[in-house]
Amino acid sequence: MIQAPKGTFDVLPPDAERRSILEAQARKVLGAAGYKRIETPVFESTELFARGVGEATDIVQKEMYTFDDDGGRSLTLRPEGTAPVCRAYIEHGMHKLSQPVKFWYLESFFRTEQPQKGRYRQFWQVGAEAIGTDAPEADAELIVLLAELLEAMVVRGVHLRLSSLGSPETRLEYRERLTAYLHDHEDQLAPEVRSRIDLNPLRAFDSSHPGTRSVMAGAPKLLDQLSPEDEEHFGRVRELLDGADVRYEIDPTLVRGIDYYTRTLFEFTSDALGAQSAVGGGGRYDRLIEQIGGPPTPGCGWATGVERILLSGAQAPTAPDPVDLFIALQVHETSSATDAFVLSREARRAGLAAQFELAGRSLKGQLKQADRVGARFVAILNASGKATLRDMSSGEQTEVTLSAVIPAVLRGSRFT
Ligand code: HAM
Repeated sequence: MIQAPKGTFDVLPPDAERRSILEAQARKVLGAAGYKRIETPVFESTELFARGVGEATDIVQKEMYTFDDDGGRSLTLRPEGTAPVCRAYIEHGMHKLSQPVKFWYLESFFRTEQPQKGRYRQFWQVGAEAIGTDAPEADAELIVLLAELLEAMVVRGVHLRLSSLGSPETRLEYRERLTAYLHDHEDQLAPEVRSRIDLNPLRAFDSSHPGTRSVMAGAPKLLDQLSPEDEEHFGRVRELLDGADVRYEIDPTLVRGIDYYTRTLFEFTSDALGAQSAVGGGGRYDRLIEQIGGPPTPGCGWATGVERILLSGAQAPTAPDPVDLFIALQVHETSSATDAFVLSREARRAGLAAQFELAGRSLKGQLKQADRVGARFVAILNASGKATLRDMSSGEQTEVTLSAVIPAVLRGSRFT
Protein backbone atom coordinates (compact mmCIF):
# COMPACT_ATOMS: atom_id res chain seq x y z
CA MET A 1 0.00 0.00 0.00
CA ILE A 2 1.31 3.46 -0.86
CA GLN A 3 1.36 5.63 2.25
CA ALA A 4 1.92 9.34 2.90
CA PRO A 5 5.68 10.08 3.17
CA LYS A 6 7.35 9.98 6.60
CA GLY A 7 6.61 13.10 8.66
CA THR A 8 3.62 14.18 6.56
CA PHE A 9 -0.10 13.78 7.20
CA ASP A 10 -3.46 14.16 5.50
CA VAL A 11 -5.86 16.81 6.71
CA LEU A 12 -9.22 15.05 6.81
CA PRO A 13 -12.51 16.99 6.88
CA PRO A 14 -12.99 17.35 10.69
CA ASP A 15 -9.40 18.67 11.02
CA ALA A 16 -9.82 20.89 8.00
CA GLU A 17 -12.72 22.52 9.85
CA ARG A 18 -10.53 23.37 12.87
CA ARG A 19 -7.87 24.72 10.57
CA SER A 20 -10.31 27.05 8.89
CA ILE A 21 -11.33 28.34 12.30
CA LEU A 22 -7.65 29.13 12.98
CA GLU A 23 -7.36 30.81 9.59
CA ALA A 24 -10.43 32.95 10.31
CA GLN A 25 -9.04 33.93 13.74
CA ALA A 26 -5.66 34.84 12.22
CA ARG A 27 -7.35 36.99 9.59
CA LYS A 28 -9.43 38.68 12.28
CA VAL A 29 -6.61 39.34 14.77
CA LEU A 30 -3.97 40.35 12.19
CA GLY A 31 -6.31 42.04 9.73
CA ALA A 32 -7.58 44.33 12.50
CA ALA A 33 -3.98 45.50 13.04
CA GLY A 34 -3.42 46.25 9.35
CA TYR A 35 -1.55 43.07 8.37
CA LYS A 36 -2.23 41.99 4.77
CA ARG A 37 -2.06 38.44 3.41
CA ILE A 38 0.98 37.43 1.34
CA GLU A 39 1.83 34.17 -0.43
CA THR A 40 5.26 33.24 -1.73
CA PRO A 41 6.43 30.22 -3.77
CA VAL A 42 6.84 26.82 -2.13
CA PHE A 43 10.45 26.72 -3.34
CA GLU A 44 13.09 29.42 -3.53
CA SER A 45 16.74 29.75 -4.47
CA THR A 46 18.79 27.78 -1.96
CA GLU A 47 21.01 30.83 -1.57
CA LEU A 48 18.14 32.80 0.00
CA PHE A 49 18.05 30.48 3.01
CA ALA A 50 21.83 29.97 3.14
CA ARG A 51 22.28 33.75 3.40
CA GLY A 52 19.10 34.57 5.29
CA VAL A 53 18.66 31.77 7.83
CA GLY A 54 22.42 31.25 8.15
CA GLU A 55 24.95 28.71 6.82
CA ALA A 56 25.81 27.44 10.29
CA THR A 57 22.23 26.75 11.47
CA ASP A 58 20.82 23.23 11.80
CA ILE A 59 18.09 24.20 9.34
CA VAL A 60 20.54 25.00 6.54
CA GLN A 61 23.11 22.36 7.49
CA LYS A 62 20.81 19.37 7.66
CA GLU A 63 17.08 20.06 7.45
CA MET A 64 16.43 21.40 3.96
CA TYR A 65 14.85 19.68 0.97
CA THR A 66 17.25 20.88 -1.72
CA PHE A 67 17.30 19.84 -5.37
CA ASP A 68 18.55 21.08 -8.74
CA ASP A 69 16.08 22.12 -11.42
CA ASP A 70 16.60 21.33 -15.11
CA GLY A 71 18.79 24.41 -15.53
CA GLY A 72 21.09 23.23 -12.75
CA ARG A 73 19.85 25.90 -10.31
CA SER A 74 19.79 24.84 -6.67
CA LEU A 75 16.28 25.20 -5.22
CA THR A 76 14.97 24.51 -1.71
CA LEU A 77 11.48 23.86 -0.37
CA ARG A 78 10.98 26.78 2.02
CA PRO A 79 11.92 25.78 5.60
CA GLU A 80 10.58 29.10 6.98
CA GLY A 81 8.74 32.21 5.82
CA THR A 82 10.67 35.32 6.87
CA ALA A 83 13.45 35.18 4.27
CA PRO A 84 10.93 34.64 1.42
CA VAL A 85 8.73 37.54 2.58
CA CYS A 86 11.81 39.80 2.76
CA ARG A 87 12.86 38.60 -0.70
CA ALA A 88 9.41 39.56 -2.03
CA TYR A 89 9.63 42.95 -0.25
CA ILE A 90 12.91 43.69 -2.04
CA GLU A 91 11.88 42.22 -5.39
CA HIS A 92 8.70 44.33 -5.58
CA GLY A 93 10.40 47.51 -4.40
CA MET A 94 8.12 47.71 -1.39
CA HIS A 95 10.50 50.06 0.43
CA LYS A 96 8.86 52.72 -1.81
CA LEU A 97 5.47 52.12 -0.18
CA SER A 98 4.54 53.84 3.05
CA GLN A 99 6.28 52.03 5.88
CA PRO A 100 6.00 49.73 7.66
CA VAL A 101 4.60 47.13 5.29
CA LYS A 102 2.78 44.52 7.36
CA PHE A 103 2.20 41.00 6.10
CA TRP A 104 0.66 37.80 7.38
CA TYR A 105 0.74 34.31 5.91
CA LEU A 106 -0.61 30.82 6.38
CA GLU A 107 1.51 28.39 4.44
CA SER A 108 3.28 25.07 4.66
CA PHE A 109 7.00 24.69 5.35
CA PHE A 110 9.41 21.79 4.99
CA ARG A 111 12.20 20.52 7.24
CA THR A 112 13.67 17.03 7.27
CA GLU A 113 13.44 16.76 11.05
CA GLN A 114 12.97 13.48 12.91
CA PRO A 115 9.16 13.26 13.15
CA GLN A 116 7.50 13.11 16.57
CA LYS A 117 4.38 14.54 18.20
CA GLY A 118 4.16 18.17 17.07
CA ARG A 119 7.14 17.86 14.74
CA TYR A 120 6.63 17.09 11.07
CA ARG A 121 8.48 17.32 7.77
CA GLN A 122 5.69 19.32 6.20
CA PHE A 123 3.98 21.63 8.68
CA TRP A 124 1.96 24.85 8.54
CA GLN A 125 2.64 28.19 10.12
CA VAL A 126 0.68 31.36 10.60
CA GLY A 127 3.23 34.16 10.46
CA ALA A 128 3.31 37.96 10.70
CA GLU A 129 6.06 40.34 9.61
CA ALA A 130 6.26 44.13 10.03
CA ILE A 131 8.95 45.45 7.68
CA GLY A 132 10.34 48.97 7.61
CA THR A 133 10.12 49.99 11.25
CA ASP A 134 12.55 49.73 14.13
CA ALA A 135 10.05 51.09 16.65
CA PRO A 136 9.91 48.96 19.81
CA GLU A 137 6.13 49.53 19.69
CA ALA A 138 6.07 47.24 16.61
CA ASP A 139 7.79 44.44 18.56
CA ALA A 140 5.39 44.83 21.47
CA GLU A 141 2.36 44.93 19.18
CA LEU A 142 3.48 41.77 17.38
CA ILE A 143 3.89 39.94 20.69
CA VAL A 144 0.45 41.11 21.83
CA LEU A 145 -1.08 39.92 18.54
CA LEU A 146 0.42 36.44 18.90
CA ALA A 147 -0.79 36.29 22.51
CA GLU A 148 -4.27 37.24 21.28
CA LEU A 149 -4.27 34.60 18.56
CA LEU A 150 -3.20 31.89 21.03
CA GLU A 151 -5.88 33.05 23.44
CA ALA A 152 -8.54 33.03 20.70
CA MET A 153 -7.54 29.43 19.89
CA VAL A 154 -7.74 28.56 23.63
CA VAL A 155 -4.13 27.30 23.73
CA ARG A 156 -3.51 26.00 27.24
CA GLY A 157 -0.60 26.60 29.64
CA VAL A 158 1.02 29.39 27.64
CA HIS A 159 4.33 30.96 28.79
CA LEU A 160 6.26 33.72 27.08
CA ARG A 161 10.04 33.99 27.25
CA LEU A 162 11.68 37.21 26.18
CA SER A 163 15.22 38.35 25.57
CA SER A 164 17.30 40.73 23.53
CA LEU A 165 20.30 39.83 21.42
CA GLY A 166 21.53 43.36 20.74
CA SER A 167 23.47 43.92 17.55
CA PRO A 168 25.66 41.34 15.77
CA GLU A 169 28.74 43.34 16.89
CA THR A 170 27.70 43.16 20.55
CA ARG A 171 27.06 39.45 20.11
CA LEU A 172 30.51 38.88 18.65
CA GLU A 173 32.19 40.66 21.54
CA TYR A 174 30.03 38.73 23.98
CA ARG A 175 30.87 35.41 22.33
CA GLU A 176 34.56 36.13 22.80
CA ARG A 177 34.06 36.95 26.50
CA LEU A 178 31.99 33.82 27.04
CA THR A 179 34.52 31.62 25.22
CA ALA A 180 37.34 33.00 27.40
CA TYR A 181 35.23 32.45 30.54
CA LEU A 182 34.49 28.82 29.52
CA HIS A 183 38.18 28.16 28.84
CA ASP A 184 38.98 29.50 32.33
CA HIS A 185 36.57 26.92 33.82
CA GLU A 186 37.23 24.05 31.41
CA ASP A 187 37.98 21.46 34.12
CA GLN A 188 34.45 21.76 35.57
CA LEU A 189 32.60 21.40 32.26
CA ALA A 190 30.97 18.31 30.73
CA PRO A 191 33.24 16.76 28.03
CA GLU A 192 30.76 17.51 25.20
CA VAL A 193 30.53 21.17 26.26
CA ARG A 194 34.32 21.41 26.58
CA SER A 195 34.86 20.05 23.08
CA ARG A 196 32.52 22.68 21.60
CA ILE A 197 33.64 25.80 23.47
CA ASP A 198 35.01 27.50 20.37
CA LEU A 199 32.37 26.12 18.01
CA ASN A 200 29.24 27.06 19.92
CA PRO A 201 29.84 28.48 23.41
CA LEU A 202 26.14 29.46 23.82
CA ARG A 203 25.06 25.82 23.83
CA ALA A 204 26.70 25.50 27.27
CA PHE A 205 23.60 27.25 28.68
CA ASP A 206 21.45 24.28 27.62
CA SER A 207 23.53 21.63 29.42
CA SER A 208 22.02 19.64 32.29
CA HIS A 209 25.47 18.57 33.60
CA PRO A 210 25.75 19.79 37.25
CA GLY A 211 29.32 21.10 36.95
CA THR A 212 28.49 22.95 33.75
CA ARG A 213 25.34 24.38 35.30
CA SER A 214 27.19 25.85 38.24
CA VAL A 215 29.81 27.37 35.90
CA MET A 216 27.03 28.82 33.74
CA ALA A 217 25.31 30.39 36.75
CA GLY A 218 28.29 32.72 37.02
CA ALA A 219 28.85 33.17 33.27
CA PRO A 220 28.61 36.63 31.67
CA LYS A 221 25.15 37.25 30.17
CA LEU A 222 24.56 38.95 26.84
CA LEU A 223 21.72 40.96 28.34
CA ASP A 224 24.19 42.68 30.68
CA GLN A 225 26.35 43.82 27.77
CA LEU A 226 23.81 45.47 25.48
CA SER A 227 24.67 48.87 24.04
CA PRO A 228 22.73 51.79 25.59
CA GLU A 229 20.47 52.04 22.46
CA ASP A 230 19.67 48.32 22.47
CA GLU A 231 19.09 48.43 26.21
CA GLU A 232 16.65 51.31 25.78
CA HIS A 233 14.83 49.54 22.93
CA PHE A 234 14.43 46.40 25.04
CA GLY A 235 13.30 48.44 28.05
CA ARG A 236 10.57 50.08 25.98
CA VAL A 237 9.32 46.70 24.64
CA ARG A 238 9.06 45.45 28.23
CA GLU A 239 7.35 48.61 29.43
CA LEU A 240 4.69 48.27 26.72
CA LEU A 241 4.13 44.58 27.50
CA ASP A 242 3.83 45.39 31.20
CA GLY A 243 1.26 48.07 30.38
CA ALA A 244 -0.67 45.58 28.25
CA ASP A 245 -0.64 43.01 31.09
CA VAL A 246 1.22 40.46 29.00
CA ARG A 247 3.13 38.19 31.36
CA TYR A 248 6.62 37.11 30.37
CA GLU A 249 9.84 35.82 31.79
CA ILE A 250 13.16 37.38 30.84
CA ASP A 251 15.34 34.51 29.72
CA PRO A 252 18.92 35.58 28.93
CA THR A 253 19.65 32.05 27.68
CA LEU A 254 16.89 32.02 25.07
CA VAL A 255 18.31 30.83 21.77
CA ARG A 256 16.43 30.20 18.53
CA GLY A 257 17.79 28.17 15.65
CA ILE A 258 17.94 31.01 13.12
CA ASP A 259 20.78 33.52 12.62
CA TYR A 260 18.92 36.61 11.41
CA TYR A 261 17.75 37.86 14.80
CA THR A 262 18.88 41.14 16.34
CA ARG A 263 17.52 42.86 19.46
CA THR A 264 14.11 41.46 20.56
CA LEU A 265 13.76 37.67 20.67
CA PHE A 266 10.75 35.76 22.05
CA GLU A 267 9.15 32.37 22.24
CA PHE A 268 5.76 31.14 23.43
CA THR A 269 5.59 27.63 24.87
CA SER A 270 2.60 25.54 25.92
CA ASP A 271 2.52 23.05 28.81
CA ALA A 272 -0.02 21.05 26.82
CA LEU A 273 2.66 20.03 24.29
CA GLY A 274 5.28 17.38 25.00
CA ALA A 275 8.96 17.76 24.11
CA GLN A 276 8.12 20.08 21.21
CA SER A 277 6.72 22.77 23.50
CA ALA A 278 7.44 25.84 21.33
CA VAL A 279 4.11 26.97 19.98
CA GLY A 280 5.40 30.12 18.31
CA GLY A 281 8.28 32.53 18.29
CA GLY A 282 10.08 35.30 16.51
CA GLY A 283 11.94 38.53 16.95
CA ARG A 284 13.56 41.44 15.23
CA TYR A 285 15.75 41.01 12.14
CA ASP A 286 17.20 44.43 11.35
CA ARG A 287 20.03 43.14 9.11
CA LEU A 288 18.24 40.44 7.13
CA ILE A 289 17.01 42.52 4.19
CA GLU A 290 20.47 43.97 3.66
CA GLN A 291 22.00 40.51 3.97
CA ILE A 292 19.91 39.19 1.10
CA GLY A 293 20.64 42.15 -1.17
CA GLY A 294 18.13 44.87 -0.26
CA PRO A 295 18.48 48.37 1.18
CA PRO A 296 19.09 48.52 4.96
CA THR A 297 15.59 47.93 6.35
CA PRO A 298 14.59 46.86 9.85
CA GLY A 299 11.90 44.24 10.46
CA CYS A 300 10.22 42.18 13.14
CA GLY A 301 7.88 39.20 13.13
CA TRP A 302 6.84 35.78 14.36
CA ALA A 303 5.48 32.47 13.25
CA THR A 304 3.33 29.96 15.07
CA GLY A 305 2.88 26.27 14.26
CA VAL A 306 -0.65 25.42 13.15
CA GLU A 307 -0.41 21.77 14.26
CA ARG A 308 0.99 22.80 17.64
CA ILE A 309 -1.83 25.30 18.17
CA LEU A 310 -4.38 22.61 17.35
CA LEU A 311 -2.63 20.05 19.60
CA SER A 312 -2.50 22.42 22.56
CA GLY A 313 -5.78 24.27 22.01
CA ALA A 314 -9.01 23.27 23.66
CA GLN A 315 -11.19 21.34 21.25
CA ALA A 316 -13.17 24.12 19.57
CA PRO A 317 -16.71 22.90 18.88
CA THR A 318 -17.33 23.02 15.17
CA ALA A 319 -20.87 23.32 13.91
CA PRO A 320 -21.45 21.21 10.78
CA ASP A 321 -22.03 23.22 7.61
CA PRO A 322 -25.77 23.82 7.27
CA VAL A 323 -27.63 21.95 4.53
CA ASP A 324 -30.86 23.74 3.62
CA LEU A 325 -32.21 21.22 1.17
CA PHE A 326 -31.67 17.55 0.42
CA ILE A 327 -33.30 16.33 -2.79
CA ALA A 328 -34.43 12.72 -2.67
CA LEU A 329 -35.90 10.55 -5.43
CA GLN A 330 -39.03 8.48 -4.95
CA VAL A 331 -37.97 6.27 -7.85
CA HIS A 332 -34.53 6.15 -9.38
CA GLU A 333 -35.12 7.10 -12.98
CA THR A 334 -33.30 9.38 -15.36
CA SER A 335 -35.92 12.14 -15.55
CA SER A 336 -36.14 12.47 -11.74
CA ALA A 337 -32.35 12.46 -11.48
CA THR A 338 -32.25 15.29 -14.05
CA ASP A 339 -34.87 17.22 -12.05
CA ALA A 340 -32.80 16.73 -8.87
CA PHE A 341 -29.63 17.88 -10.62
CA VAL A 342 -31.33 21.02 -12.01
CA LEU A 343 -33.18 21.83 -8.79
CA SER A 344 -30.07 21.56 -6.63
CA ARG A 345 -28.20 23.92 -8.95
CA GLU A 346 -31.05 26.44 -8.90
CA ALA A 347 -31.24 26.17 -5.12
CA ARG A 348 -27.52 26.99 -4.80
CA ARG A 349 -27.94 29.93 -7.16
CA ALA A 350 -30.69 31.15 -4.85
CA GLY A 351 -28.16 31.07 -2.01
CA LEU A 352 -29.17 27.76 -0.41
CA ALA A 353 -26.87 24.87 0.48
CA ALA A 354 -28.32 21.94 -1.45
CA GLN A 355 -27.36 18.32 -2.14
CA PHE A 356 -29.08 15.53 -4.06
CA GLU A 357 -29.09 11.77 -3.89
CA LEU A 358 -26.14 10.15 -5.65
CA ALA A 359 -25.91 6.66 -4.20
CA GLY A 360 -29.06 4.86 -5.42
CA ARG A 361 -30.39 4.45 -1.85
CA SER A 362 -33.97 3.42 -1.03
CA LEU A 363 -36.28 6.28 -0.02
CA LYS A 364 -35.81 5.32 3.63
CA GLY A 365 -32.04 5.34 3.12
CA GLN A 366 -32.23 8.75 1.50
CA LEU A 367 -34.17 10.21 4.43
CA LYS A 368 -31.53 8.77 6.78
CA GLN A 369 -28.82 10.39 4.67
CA ALA A 370 -30.67 13.73 4.78
CA ASP A 371 -30.75 13.42 8.55
CA ARG A 372 -27.05 12.54 8.69
CA VAL A 373 -26.05 15.65 6.75
CA GLY A 374 -28.35 17.77 8.92
CA ALA A 375 -30.72 18.89 6.15
CA ARG A 376 -33.47 21.36 7.19
CA PHE A 377 -35.73 20.29 4.33
CA VAL A 378 -36.04 17.27 2.09
CA ALA A 379 -37.77 17.46 -1.29
CA ILE A 380 -38.85 14.00 -2.45
CA LEU A 381 -39.30 14.18 -6.22
CA ASN A 382 -41.99 11.92 -7.59
CA ALA A 383 -42.60 10.59 -11.10
CA SER A 384 -45.40 13.09 -11.82
CA GLY A 385 -43.02 16.05 -11.68
CA LYS A 386 -44.11 17.17 -8.22
CA ALA A 387 -42.37 17.04 -4.88
CA THR A 388 -43.19 16.28 -1.30
CA LEU A 389 -41.43 18.88 0.80
CA ARG A 390 -40.67 17.77 4.32
CA ASP A 391 -39.59 20.03 7.18
CA MET A 392 -37.10 17.81 9.01
CA SER A 393 -37.51 19.51 12.39
CA SER A 394 -41.33 19.45 12.58
CA GLY A 395 -41.93 16.43 10.35
CA GLU A 396 -44.61 18.51 8.59
CA GLN A 397 -44.91 17.79 4.86
CA THR A 398 -46.78 19.17 1.85
CA GLU A 399 -47.02 18.38 -1.82
CA VAL A 400 -45.77 21.23 -4.02
CA THR A 401 -44.80 21.83 -7.63
CA LEU A 402 -41.09 21.70 -8.40
CA SER A 403 -40.99 25.47 -8.97
CA ALA A 404 -42.43 26.05 -5.48
CA VAL A 405 -39.67 24.11 -3.68
CA ILE A 406 -37.00 26.84 -3.58
CA PRO A 407 -39.32 29.71 -2.56
CA ALA A 408 -40.76 27.49 0.19
CA VAL A 409 -37.31 26.64 1.57
CA LEU A 410 -36.29 30.29 1.34
CA ARG A 411 -39.38 31.23 3.36
CA GLY A 412 -38.47 28.76 6.05
CA SER A 413 -41.19 26.45 7.12
CA ARG A 414 -44.17 27.99 5.30
CA PHE A 415 -45.13 25.76 2.40
CA THR A 416 -47.88 27.73 0.80
P1 HAM B 1 10.62 28.79 14.10
O1 HAM B 1 10.78 28.94 15.58
O2 HAM B 1 11.61 27.97 13.39
O3 HAM B 1 10.60 30.27 13.52
O4 HAM B 1 9.18 28.22 13.78
C1 HAM B 1 8.04 28.85 14.31
C2 HAM B 1 7.05 27.81 14.83
O5 HAM B 1 6.76 26.86 13.81
C3 HAM B 1 7.59 26.98 16.00
O6 HAM B 1 7.41 27.64 17.22
C4 HAM B 1 6.69 25.74 15.89
O7 HAM B 1 5.44 25.99 16.51
C5 HAM B 1 6.49 25.59 14.40
N1 HAM B 1 7.39 24.57 13.84
C6 HAM B 1 8.71 24.70 13.53
N2 HAM B 1 9.20 23.54 13.05
C7 HAM B 1 8.18 22.65 13.04
C8 HAM B 1 8.05 21.28 12.65
N3 HAM B 1 9.05 20.58 12.13
N4 HAM B 1 6.83 20.68 12.79
C9 HAM B 1 5.78 21.37 13.30
N5 HAM B 1 5.84 22.67 13.68
C10 HAM B 1 7.03 23.30 13.55
C11 HAM B 1 10.47 30.58 12.20
O8 HAM B 1 10.17 29.81 11.34
C12 HAM B 1 10.66 32.08 11.93
N6 HAM B 1 10.45 32.30 10.49
C13 HAM B 1 9.70 32.89 12.78
C14 HAM B 1 9.83 34.35 12.52
C15 HAM B 1 9.03 35.12 11.74
N7 HAM B 1 10.78 35.14 13.02
C16 HAM B 1 10.59 36.37 12.57
N8 HAM B 1 9.54 36.35 11.78
